Amino acid sequence: MQTTTVHNFTMTYDEQGQGQPILFIHGYPLSRMLWEPQLTGLADIARVLVPDLPGHGESQAIPGPYWMEDLADDVKVFLDNLGVSEPVVICGLSMGGYVAMAFYRMHAARMRALILAATRPGADSEEARANRDKAAEQARREGVITVVEAMLPKILAPETYQQQPELVDYVRRMMLSTSTEGAVGDLMGMKERPDSTDTLKEILLPTLILHGEDDQIIPPKEAEGMHRLIVNSRLELIPGAGHLLNLEQPDKFNNAVRSFLEQV
Ligand code: MLT
Repeated sequence: MQTTTVHNFTMTYDEQGQGQPILFIHGYPLSRMLWEPQLTGLADIARVLVPDLPGHGESQAIPGPYWMEDLADDVKVFLDNLGVSEPVVICGLSMGGYVAMAFYRMHAARMRALILAATRPGADSEEARANRDKAAEQARREGVITVVEAMLPKILAPETYQQQPELVDYVRRMMLSTSTEGAVGDLMGMKERPDSTDTLKEILLPTLILHGEDDQIIPPKEAEGMHRLIVNSRLELIPGAGHLLNLEQPDKFNNAVRSFLEQV
């Protein structure tokens, strides 16, 4: 574990390996713990960089809302601090994907390739926005634990949830390491995030789209839609995986990333 100062907060991160930098951005309400199988499983072919976003894991919390553009800028400063000047492969899962799309809008020249995992391009519907408000209110009133317990059964594939109690416990611990300020900051930022559909139409970078077949948070049809929009994209649907496909099926996920990295 290492730390670096990004703007006004201390960011915690892990780093392993050498060569092509690949930066993994976690989702909500998660942390760099999400990427443990990638940190250990891909370090032989790349320089794997895994930060905690503000208010998540062991990074300091700052007042929200956390706009996707601000999170993308935090990630850019993180790369600057580490002296990473060559183009990076950016992989974002779910909210991390929203941040990756914002990063592309702001810093495309810093990117070599893109990996979008369990994410979607659209902005929130009215119903989704109202649900963000409810979740934020609940987190403020009762702490993140209520939000975590409600989300936990849906964030993994039903099969994973029933058959892998240790993984369920790992995910619970990761989610509970999110501060209330961090969770509320995400919710308020995601609620106002822009529609990235037009961004996807402009992306010429090699792009890998990965999605769990049993994702109950973001349906796989979102991945199929993104594949149609991004000209240079490859789509892989991962069986036996829900929203946290890289944790649920680490070998399949890492193999897909490996063969993609060989090509870029
Ligand atoms: C995530 O996993 O990052 C979130 O579920 C995304 C969202 O709520 O839109």
